[in-house]
Amino acid sequence: NRPLRIAPSILSADFARLGDEVAAIVAAAADYIHVDVMDGHFVPNISFGAPVMKSIRLLTDKPFDVHLMISPVDPYLDTFASAGADIITVHAEAGPHLHRTLQAIRALGKKAGVALNPATPVSTIQHVIDEVDLILIMSVNPGFGGQTFIPDSLVKLRQARDLIGSRSIDLEVDGGIGPDNVRAVVEAGANVIVAGSSIYGGNDPATYAGRIHAIRDA
Ligand code: DX5
Ligand code: ZN
Repeated sequence: NRPLRIAPSILSADFARLGDEVAAIVAAAADYIHVDVMDGHFVPNISFGAPVMKSIRLLTDKPFDVHLMISPVDPYLDTFASAGADIITVHAEAGPHLHRTLQAIRALGKKAGVALNPATPVSTIQHVIDEVDLILIMSVNPGFGGQTFIPDSLVKLRQARDLIGSRSIDLEVDGGIGPDNVRAVVEAGANVIVAGSSIYGGNDPATYAGRIHAIRDA
């Protein structure tokens, strides 16, 4: 029912040419820009923060889909909202008061997303479902690009789609997605597709349009 969206993850971009890498996926018809923020605490890797995001925000009007892999997260919501996030997704595992965190995101005028790690059941979010605009099913353990898709994620996508029912909530999937498995995740109910290495791998802008097209087509 919801439109299909392709969200390239700039985690796999060449950071020395980040502005050009963002412009290239915009030119290649990306729908969203997926921004992976990692703190070296909630996940075992550090990526970049709000100042980097604020700089690239000036390059495009495309929605910024900000995936916060940080804990604590509440003290930084305002910062990422001000830096130009459109969707702010927090992890259900990242703090003790998920309901309050989701309400705080909406109070900032942003779409509220909730992400679930591979080990976290979909039932974790059944009591906050009316506070969310997007559910993100992690199909790898968060922290790194280029990992292998976990097949059980398809079960969780179907459960999340059932939980969503007739509500206007996007269902996003993130990790290990490419032309070979995108059809399966869409059939399981996903409508927002994150792709890092399957678009940015090799960091050759000449390939991006073809790769995004291949994912959309599959
Ligand atoms: C992983 C990140 C993903 C990552 C996806 O922690 O949340 O967004 O960049 O990269 P691929 O598509 O290469 O698995
Ligand atoms: Zn992500």
